[in-house]
Amino acid sequence: MSVQINESTKTVSEGAAAGVAVYSNFLLSIYDLEVLMFELQYIFKCPLHKVMEFFNENVSGIHLDVGVGTGYFLDKCNFPVENPTIHLMDLNSNTLRKTSKRIKRYEPVPHQCNVLEPIQADLPLFDSISAINFLHCLPGIMLDKEMAIKNLKPFLREGGVLFGITVLGQGVDVGILYRIANSIYNKKSIFSNLNDNISDLEVILKNNFKEYSVQTVGSAAFFSGHN
Ligand SMILES: C[S@@+](CC[C@H](N)C(=O)[O-])C[C@H]1O[C@@H](n2cnc3c(N)ncnc32)[C@H](O)[C@@H]1O
Repeated sequence: MSVQINESTKTVSEGAAAGVAVYSNFLLSIYDLEVLMFELQYIFKCPLHKVMEFFNENVSGIHLDVGVGTGYFLDKCNFPVENPTIHLMDLNSNTLRKTSKRIKRYEPVPHQCNVLEPIQADLPLFDSISAINFLHCLPGIMLDKEMAIKNLKPFLREGGVLFGITVLGQGVDVGILYRIANSIYNKKSIFSNLNDNISDLEVILKNNFKEYSVQTVGSAAFFSGHN
């Protein structure tokens, strides 16, 4: 199957490139097992079923998934309609290809974009936008990551929800394995979350949404903001 990817980003900073470089086809072939089923649950102490429940609570029939990885949640979730409209956004073409194939039954529309730059893609307005395991990959301190939310928000319909989870680097020490893994991932620039904490995430949500919620599960923050 060949996948048509709409490219809208030409400039990519070193930090943004580092956050996507790791997602080779090999890593994507073991990602669900290694990252979602093992590391997320046993190192970052965030049960996968809780993320799935959160996804199901928030996903709509007109949905944009940002930072798609392997498309695990899109594949397994329960959409509230039989034929959802799904758009995919990622800077990495491997992840867009993998996810597009995995959920081809929904005929998703992929867009290759850097969410840290203004988004030029031709997009409809969405009732829901997900950013799962995403903010911790973006460079900078937590407050710098507001740029991604600001770039996505124009594509969220009035009353729509932007939701996600992100592994924090401060205030959520869930053990030695978490400390070791988080430190290695930051050294390799796979994560940039050493300064990410729940209060700064709350500031971002307060600045951008009429209503918001945020809570931690293990070392991850589950957040949502309503337009
Ligand atoms: C840890 S994976 C998360 C995958 C999936 N959401 C999940 O939870 O399994 C992070 C994803 O974000 C993408 N990504 C990282 N930085 C990005 C950026 N600046 N713009 C767009 N996508 C980015 C990566 O290519 C990767 O697909």
